[in-house]
Amino acid sequence: MDEIKLKSFPKDFIFGVSTSAYQIEGGYDADGKGENIWDHYTNKYPKLFKNANGNIACDSYTKFREDVALVDDLGVDFYRFSVSWSRILPNGHCNVINEKGIQYYNNIIDALTDKGIQPMITMFHWDLPMPLQRLGGWTNPLIVQWFKDYARILFSRFGDRVKLWVTVNKSETGYCDDGFPPFINQPGIADYLLNHHTLLAHAETYHMYKEEFLAKQHGNVGVVLDGRWYTAGSKSEANLRATERARAFEVGLFLNPLCRGDYPLVVKQRVAYRSNEEGYSKSRLPEFSEKEMEFIKGSFDFIGLNVYTTMLVKNIDEPDFSLTSAEHDMKAKVYQDAKWESSEAVHWLKVTPDGARNLLKWVKDSYGNPEIIITENGFADSGGIEDVKRIDYLQRYLCAILDAILIDGVRVKGYSAWSLLDNFEWTYGYSAKFGLIHVDFTDPNRKRTAKKSAEWYKNLTRDRMILE
Ligand code: NOJ
Repeated sequence: MDEIKLKSFPKDFIFGVSTSAYQIEGGYDADGKGENIWDHYTNKYPKLFKNANGNIACDSYTKFREDVALVDDLGVDFYRFSVSWSRILPNGHCNVINEKGIQYYNNIIDALTDKGIQPMITMFHWDLPMPLQRLGGWTNPLIVQWFKDYARILFSRFGDRVKLWVTVNKSETGYCDDGFPPFINQPGIADYLLNHHTLLAHAETYHMYKEEFLAKQHGNVGVVLDGRWYTAGSKSEANLRATERARAFEVGLFLNPLCRGDYPLVVKQRVAYRSNEEGYSKSRLPEFSEKEMEFIKGSFDFIGLNVYTTMLVKNIDEPDFSLTSAEHDMKAKVYQDAKWESSEAVHWLKVTPDGARNLLKWVKDSYGNPEIIITENGFADSGGIEDVKRIDYLQRYLCAILDAILIDGVRVKGYSAWSLLDNFEWTYGYSAKFGLIHVDFTDPNRKRTAKKSAEWYKNLTRDRMILE
């Protein structure tokens, strides 16, 4: 009989489970909440979201105590959830604070800490208040101040009990051409502006915490990159170079300023420096001043990574109109291998655990081994409680992540599974099920039922060991 080999997670490693406000809360207009971009666009253009919206979602707005009990049952150390900006500030600005919204999150935080579970709050997980979107959202430089004002309220109201903070769950969604709200859809323009202002808003918030709150609250502030791993489609010199460019554009655009103070050189060369000769413009890739570079560099206690899948990269020599302008900027095409094992529910979710390990190794080697928390990792199917494939996915990714820690020396300090509940999966509506807990969306009471994977994760958080 084969010998069963187990390997252990480090003693101080923390396990968690994640959700986000719009995807689970519902209560979209309850108790003074304002409208956000997801409320707005899902109700206005239902067909784009499989006729679904988050108006009720998992109804966690009323069922949060049951959800905290489910989190507790998983035996995790922390619960990562996001605050709905519009629930706290109905018009996006801090001139009107909705105390009932504050109360809702106070109740969740208290319910968690009563059970010894650490809350990890994400301040922004894609649901921007609609009034701020009408002013340009993340493309407007004023958002740096709007975000900081909002963040100050969260620190001052919740920071006595919340010690793990994520400023933003950063991705390009809605600013490139992915069919997501707010449908800005200008890759190579709006996504750079979004990235720039997100970095500044994050850094402002981080420094504000250190100056105004840290001495009393003793917490940690990080930021999450919802990224992918990029690897060469074939090992030609040109493709290998294109892969380096893709990593610089897709990951470095965010992590390079945070770890080194500026955008990767190749990104500047391809987007900004050539402005005078070839019609490129510095307004597409805004510049940081010297002061801003110093301010952003090192402005995190941990980097959060959402880890799901891998993309292949191919060099592009000739301009090609089928490319997005972001691909044009990086002179590379990104794609996936149709033969890769895949989720039947979400087309981009190919099972590539080695990619997770390689991404972690690359971040370690490129950015001075920062402290990392895997803030999301998970698998989607189309339903059922016997979720064999999810268990297999989680097992293989956790194994790869543990190898990154034990063999490659990457400083991964925690892991959070996506997601606690089946929930509103953005443009997939309710068709993609990422939950460890099944939710019956036909039931007005949104009955929750633990899946096999919940049992599996519970054993893992208890034993803190995994099969080799
Ligand atoms: C990352 C996002 O942060 C989360 O909201 C989403 O549900 C998962 N990816 C799965 O697509």
